[in-house]
Amino acid sequence: MTYYKTVLIVFSISFSIPLNLLAQSFTKTIISGVHWYDQHQNTVSAHGAGVLKEGTTFYLFGEFKRDDSNAFNGFSCYSSKNLSDWKFENVVLPVQSNGRLSNDKVGERPKVLKNPKTGEYIMFMHTDDLNYKDPVVGYATSNTIDGTYQFQGPLLFKGKPIKRWDMGVFQDSDGQGYLVMHHGDLYRLSADYKSITQQITTQATKCESPVIFKKNGIYFWLGSGLTGWERNDNFYYTAKSLEGPWEYQGTFAPKGTLTYNSQSTFVLPIKGSKDTTYVYMGDRWSHPKQNASATYVWQPLQIHEKRLTIPEFFQNWKISIQTGEWEKACFTGKIIENNDPEINYEGSWEHHTQGEDFSDSYANEEGAKLTYTFEGSQIGMVGVASSDKGYAQVTIQNAKGKEILSNVIDMYCKYPEASLKFLSPKFPKGIYTISISVLGEHWFWTEKSGKKSGSSDVSVSLDKFIIN
Ligand code: GLA
Repeated sequence: MTYYKTVLIVFSISFSIPLNLLAQSFTKTIISGVHWYDQHQNTVSAHGAGVLKEGTTFYLFGEFKRDDSNAFNGFSCYSSKNLSDWKFENVVLPVQSNGRLSNDKVGERPKVLKNPKTGEYIMFMHTDDLNYKDPVVGYATSNTIDGTYQFQGPLLFKGKPIKRWDMGVFQDSDGQGYLVMHHGDLYRLSADYKSITQQITTQATKCESPVIFKKNGIYFWLGSGLTGWERNDNFYYTAKSLEGPWEYQGTFAPKGTLTYNSQSTFVLPIKGSKDTTYVYMGDRWSHPKQNASATYVWQPLQIHEKRLTIPEFFQNWKISIQTGEWEKACFTGKIIENNDPEINYEGSWEHHTQGEDFSDSYANEEGAKLTYTFEGSQIGMVGVASSDKGYAQVTIQNAKGKEILSNVIDMYCKYPEASLKFLSPKFPKGIYTISISVLGEHWFWTEKSGKKSGSSDVSVSLDKFIIN
């Protein structure tokens, strides 16, 4: 009983407006926690990412993940004009035949800066061995933003590499570049960005996934706790100068939401004619299926002087690149509840109901499957994520029975939460069949401390479908 009451509360926050009352398309909005698709209808794989804008185009650089290990699989680049439609450009730094970015090494958190003096593009990254015991910051260079980037090796300070792991970069308004490290070290880059000239703070903060940005003369430093791929409540510091002192300000998302199930990677300012919106970019990791199932949590930050918050989670919102203004968007469409007689359940599914507002069907038996045939062009699936949820295999077939999409979604969340877990690409209007089955696997990880994290079971839940 208590469990479902909790779910109900989170559900009503996630969808504070009834799903079927507002008309709004899914397109051109930013949707957190579901797969994004590129122009080939492949899922966007760019994690631990950063964005660089050139002209009117945003370039997203990230880890091109795989599903069997953390081994380096290249850094990807996608482009977009609106932050909703992403075009796959290329793997702009491919796996190297040997050295620090070969296929038995780790490469993470690529961030690209354009050097204002030379015009060269410099990519910075964390390189490591598979046990994360040999961390070194490296860099790569390219004359064009979309690569190919040539890996140059370690970034040196006084002739020695920086032996730290999570990193980010920051370019100040005067063009000066900085390298920001977990555990609070901050370095000034040389004029060509290819080495480090000075360490300007040390141990200023204690975090992983460090991010620095500036608004109105105040520097913000975001980071996460040290829980590996597991989520935690991220926090931030502020300072009037990069040298510090850095003042701890606490969490920026409500405590217990675990930063809406994400880890910081970048903050992207969208400067328009009326406003500048700072977009928090986070990763919702899913080891080992990081390519298939990790997703993105991008939210508008609210900033008042040195107060930084994401007070409410907007799973669906949109931003005008022209004006810089953002607004909440809603999910709409025809709602098909999980007890609809047209849904065909195979295997042992159970049905839970709580009052009139909430119910779900769930199964934890590997291979248990549900199918539903619908007419439309897009289907979304709302499920109840919780700490015992695992991976669901989702496939869509067209009217001829041909499989046109196959994805694996992760239904894990440390606390119960009903949200959109899957949203298909837009297909031509027609008849389609969606099937969702229990894969029988779940995400897991052993943290650096040796603590194990991950789901306790492999269950899958369906609350409702939304069809457009
Ligand atoms: C942390 C880091 C990630 C990655 C994982 C590996 O989450 O922020 O970039 O290195 O640890 O455990």
